[in-house]
Amino acid sequence: MKDLPIGFIDSGFGGLTVVKQSLKQLPNESVLFIGDNARCPYGPRPLNEVKKYIWQLSIFLREKGIKMLVIACNTGTAAALEDLKRTLPIPVVGVIEPGSRAAIIQTNNKKIGVIGTIGTIQSKIYEKTIINKKNDVVVEGLACPSFVEMVETGQIYSSQAKEKVSQELSPLLKKEIDTLVLGCTHYPIMRGLIQEVVGPKVHLIDSGVETINDVSMLLDYFNLSRTANDALQQSPTQTFYTTGDIEHFDRMASDWLARKDLDVRKCEIKGEVIYETDYS
Ligand code: DGL
Repeated sequence: MKDLPIGFIDSGFGGLTVVKQSLKQLPNESVLFIGDNARCPYGPRPLNEVKKYIWQLSIFLREKGIKMLVIACNTGTAAALEDLKRTLPIPVVGVIEPGSRAAIIQTNNKKIGVIGTIGTIQSKIYEKTIINKKNDVVVEGLACPSFVEMVETGQIYSSQAKEKVSQELSPLLKKEIDTLVLGCTHYPIMRGLIQEVVGPKVHLIDSGVETINDVSMLLDYFNLSRTANDALQQSPTQTFYTTGDIEHFDRMASDWLARKDLDVRKCEIKGEVIYETDYS
C-alpha cells in the first residue's frame, strides 16, 4: 500500500501548485495527477455538478491505485470533500482547512481576505471554517472569476495582466486586510502579480503549501510514508493525466514544475466515466 502514489485532482493546472509542494516536501512519494482541463473552469458551475466531476476524477485515480487522495481544488473541496471522506476507504484531504489554519496563525489585525472562484466564495466555506476555529476575526471574501482563465490560457504573461488583476482585486484593497488566502489552487501561479497589487504588507497564504503539511502528517500517522531507502529501491514516479489538450498541458506543467520529460497522458470523458485514451 505505501508504495502506491498520492492522487491529486483538479479542474486544470491549479492542482499542480499542490503537486509542486509535494515534490519538494515529499520527494520519496509518487504522484498521480489528473486535471480536468476539458471542463475547466469549475468555479462558475453549480456545486452539485462539481461534486459529480470530482467523483469521476476520484474513481479514475482509485482504479489506477492511490494510497491517499488530495482534492487539490478549493471549489472541488467545497463541493465534495465531506462526501468523499465519508465514502472512500483511503484518507482524503482538501485544501480549505489547511489554508484556514494558516491564515489564523498569520493575521495580526484579525482581518483576513479570501479570494477564490464564484463557487468557493458563494459557498462561504472559508468564512465558516475560519470563524468556527476563531470567531473574533473578520473574513472578507471576493470572487475573482477571470484569474483561472488567465492561468489556463497563459495570459498571466501578457502586458495587461497586472491591470486586470488590479481591477479585480480593487474591492478588497480598501478592507485593510493583513492576510490574503489564495483560495483557488490556480492563484499561486500568479502569486507575483497578486503580491504586487496588494503590496508587500499583505501576507499571502498558499493553501497548497499548507495542505502538503497535512498530507505529510497523515502519511506518518497511517504508516503510509515512503522513506529515502524505499525511494532507492524503487524510484518514485510522477504521472499526469489531462482530459484536455496534451501538448498544452505538457508545456504549462513543465514550465510550472520546472521539469522536463514529464509523463503526460491523455484521458477522455465518455458519459459519466473517464477513460485513459487508447492509442493502439
Ligand atoms: N483550481 C480550482 C480551485 O481551487 C478551480 C478553478 C476552476 O476550475 O474554476 O478552486
